[in-house]
Amino acid sequence: MSRVAYVNGRYLPHAEAAVHVEDRGLQFADGVYEVIAIVNGRPIDLGGHMTRLARSLRELRMAMPMPARPLRIVLREVVRRNRVRNGIVYLQVSRGAYKRDHPFPPPSVLPSLVVTARSGVAPSASMVENGVGVVTVADQRWARRDIKSVSLLPNVLAKQHAKDMGAYEAWQVDRDGFVTEGTSTNAWIVTQDGTLVTRPLGHDILAGITRDAVLRLAREAGLTVEERPFTVDEARAAREAFISSTTAAALPIVRIDDAVIANGVPGSITRQVWDLYEGYMAGPGAEDWIDG
Ligand SMILES: Cc1ncc(COP(=O)(O)O)c(C=O)c1O
Repeated sequence: MSRVAYVNGRYLPHAEAAVHVEDRGLQFADGVYEVIAIVNGRPIDLGGHMTRLARSLRELRMAMPMPARPLRIVLREVVRRNRVRNGIVYLQVSRGAYKRDHPFPPPSVLPSLVVTARSGVAPSASMVENGVGVVTVADQRWARRDIKSVSLLPNVLAKQHAKDMGAYEAWQVDRDGFVTEGTSTNAWIVTQDGTLVTRPLGHDILAGITRDAVLRLAREAGLTVEERPFTVDEARAAREAFISSTTAAALPIVRIDDAVIANGVPGSITRQVWDLYEGYMAGPGAEDWIDG
């Protein structure tokens, strides 16, 4: 089946879909993005993603490419045209195309909007069953990681390093030895007394939509949750660990560098969190495309 992408007002064959050579996303990474999971044809936490998109744009003094409702319709249409039942829809907004110069272009230059969708990005059954490894790397990113910017070079390099080391993800570590987050996931540990720990929100990490849902679900299920920084040493000695994201859900970690976590198999609390999140995606997390 041929794929379709949306670019600035047009639905195009994927192979022909392109932005201008002077698009600021291309030239300066001057743009933001969102990735939304599609489960059984419905978007997970679409409202949360739309709110975060609006915030990222506001922080960068960029305009919404269109009002929220038509944007939701475009997302739905790209998912429909690509026949995605389970997968993701990706959207990127840049500050538009203009002759290359660092300051913002004049307000008459419209933002660029690109939307793509594809099936099947969930972790494999064996990854969920057996867990995955992470390696730790120095966090080399800029100081506003709360903005979901397309400027992902340090994340790309760290993820490639993880891959080279046979790991699934890299946990980035701040100067004081505390884990910030993965390259495309938030980081969690479970302490020996069963407390879930994840770094508090701030400028150092992205406010993961999945992180937020997991926090809520865990608390509702009566688990103890602490939002505080944790060190690599604490993580290596943890009872369990996992990562959360739109595409990874709540994936168990069984190795951090050379340290084996949870005896090398996903632990019971992580499994509980996974099940809670699966139930959430099959139920209340699956939203309507158009609200209200
Ligand atoms: C750096 C970073 N942290 C965390 C996340 C997880 O966020 P979400 O749960 O909204 O997918 C992502 C997702 O892409 C990310 O890029």
